Amino acid sequence: MGSRLLLLLFMLVFAKISFAENINVETIVQNVCVACHAKDGNSPITANPKLAGQHNSYLYKQLMEFKSGKRDNAVMAGIASALSDEEMKALSVYFSDQVLKLGKASTNGEGSLGEKIFRSGLAEKNVPACAGCHGPAGHGIPSKFPRLNSQHADYIHSQLVQFAEGKRANDEAKVMRTIAQKLSQEEMKAVADYIQGLQ
Ligand code: HEC
Ligand code: HEC
Repeated sequence: MGSRLLLLLFMLVFAKISFAENINVETIVQNVCVACHAKDGNSPITANPKLAGQHNSYLYKQLMEFKSGKRDNAVMAGIASALSDEEMKALSVYFSDQVLKLGKASTNGEGSLGEKIFRSGLAEKNVPACAGCHGPAGHGIPSKFPRLNSQHADYIHSQLVQFAEGKRANDEAKVMRTIAQKLSQEEMKAVADYIQGLQ
């Protein structure tokens, strides 16, 4: 092999490596995500989900699906479509590594309707316990079930409404759509408030 060809190959490999290393996650966070999710992923506005401490595989799935349109949201679609696959992976790891700020329920503490739905479900309506998949304290199971604990009640409620209406349809086997359809507005609000207070 000629030495010029070797040099060219070396340069190509080097260019690829330095490109991969050039993703500056903190710059993307500061320039784009910070306005809505805060630098540490503890979004101050309750319509925007907290990303801190969420499983990185779940965050990555959501970013890919905003980009492809499988999860329908105009704001996040515009943002995700400007990100490369490597950037989405790196951002997911970054936010997953941030420390989640714990929240409080406003009225749904111990003995509440929200607690009942989360821990036991509603047998009469065939609603399974949320804890069955999202875990007893809502910490989820990486790559299968997202973390819910201490998430903003407003955001949780909006997702339940979107699942019930089929507007959010990126849950495999319609698992969340089927459950949310069975909940009344009052029940959605109660369980969302309880989740906000879960440690
Ligand atoms: C203009 C505000 C805004 C900006 C900027 C923004 N987001 Fe979002 N993000 C939202 C909103 C609103 C939602 C909830 C969408 C919905 O209701 O489905 C969301 C949802 C998400 C979710 C899904 C979380 C979950 O629990 O399902 C991820 C992941 C995410 N954003 C990552 C990012 C990243 C990474 C950036 C920066 C590159 C970013 N966002 C920038 C507003 C924003
Ligand atoms: C059979 C398992 C299962 C049960 C039971 C279940 N979930 Fe889920 N849930 C999931 C899965 C899987 C996802 C992830 C969907 C996706 O891939 O985007 C999810 C996602 C969610 C989300 C979106 C989280 C986010 O950050 O956007 C909310 C909110 C939610 N579930 C609330 C509930 C509530 C409330 C209950 C109880 C009434 C419940 N879930 C019961 C499996 C389950």
